[in-house]
Amino acid sequence: MAFGNLFKFRSQDMAIDLGTANTVVYVRGQGIVLNEPSVVAIETLNGIKKVKAVGNDAKMMMGKTPDSIEAIRPLRDGVIADIDVAEQMIKHFIQKVHGKKKLFSYPEIVICVPSGSTSVERRAIRDAASNAGASQVFLIEEPMAAAIGADMPVTEPIGSMVVDVGGGTTEVAVLSLRGLAYTTSVRTGGDKMDEAIVSYVRRHHNLLIGETTAERIKKDFGVAQAPVDGVGHTIHIKGRDLVNGVPKEISINQGQIAEALGEPIGTIIEGVRIALENTAPELAADIVDQGIVLTGGGALISGLDAALSDETGLPVTVAEDPLACVALGTGRAMEDELFRGVLTTA
Ligand SMILES: Nc1ncnc2c1ncn2[C@@H]1O[C@H](COP(=O)(O)OP(=O)(O)OP(=O)(O)O)[C@@H](O)[C@H]1O
Ligand SMILES: [Mg+2]
Repeated sequence: MAFGNLFKFRSQDMAIDLGTANTVVYVRGQGIVLNEPSVVAIETLNGIKKVKAVGNDAKMMMGKTPDSIEAIRPLRDGVIADIDVAEQMIKHFIQKVHGKKKLFSYPEIVICVPSGSTSVERRAIRDAASNAGASQVFLIEEPMAAAIGADMPVTEPIGSMVVDVGGGTTEVAVLSLRGLAYTTSVRTGGDKMDEAIVSYVRRHHNLLIGETTAERIKKDFGVAQAPVDGVGHTIHIKGRDLVNGVPKEISINQGQIAEALGEPIGTIIEGVRIALENTAPELAADIVDQGIVLTGGGALISGLDAALSDETGLPVTVAEDPLACVALGTGRAMEDELFRGVLTTA
């Protein structure tokens, strides 16, 4: 029975990808158990702020809240925009996964934090996890977690390049022997793509659309390169006419969406180019063989791999489950002694 108890004890250990768009939780021995938007709805009543909803429930409220409720994303552009709300969110998710087994366990938690977070913010995130019941908290760098999750040869003396296109940032890193040989981060990811669609539709159609609508257009019809016929699918979108203020519907095609996404995609490709220019020759030679691996939700934009391959002349592949890579890699780093060296406490 001792082993049974021991197993229960260990089974509460968690790995968390605290992303600017999504938070993903992995439990030791179980894999991914939670994947929800990093959104918190705050209600202010008589000057007192209270958490109204977190995750999926809160995201559904985005752009549709009455004055007393605000749906916010505490992590934005790869940094922690509101540390108090971020703390509440992380505690909420830990407790949701923890359920009622709290008395029994003091889990170890490994968290992947946004790369742009400062040491003060990292400490606050660690404290939030400790307050939620963690006995020990470790941190891991996002590109390392992404590469482990994508099954890249990070422990070997082979250079490989991972490009994680998240909501807030794109991390570009060259890895070898459990270390980051080179890393750079551009503040362009899925959010900037959504903003680019919003502003394109405003400029070309005088139509105001919300972030959520723009994100849906991007996910369903977004393309990194113009379709062969220059047009592709045509879709209808609804919003508010900027001239007369009433709701209206317009149509837009994939060629136009590719044009709208040109700037953010160009910035991402430029980040990769800079990383390649700064990579030591021996590692660069490995990357020619290994190619570049894309992870993060932004990797799902249709044709991003082809666009990057055209620009760099290198083979580019999309990881198997790009949205889960960072959480899977964080989980593996927690479970497998081989990766222990990549965890830090600060
Ligand atoms: N099918 C899809 N096509 C295009 N973009 C997508 C798709 N699915 C998700 N995304 C985008 O991926 C982004 C979220 O990716 P991910 O969960 O990797 O980010 P994150 O880890 O939360 O952010 P960060 O790493 O910057 O902190 C969002 O901008 C989302 O709109
Ligand atoms: Mg991420």
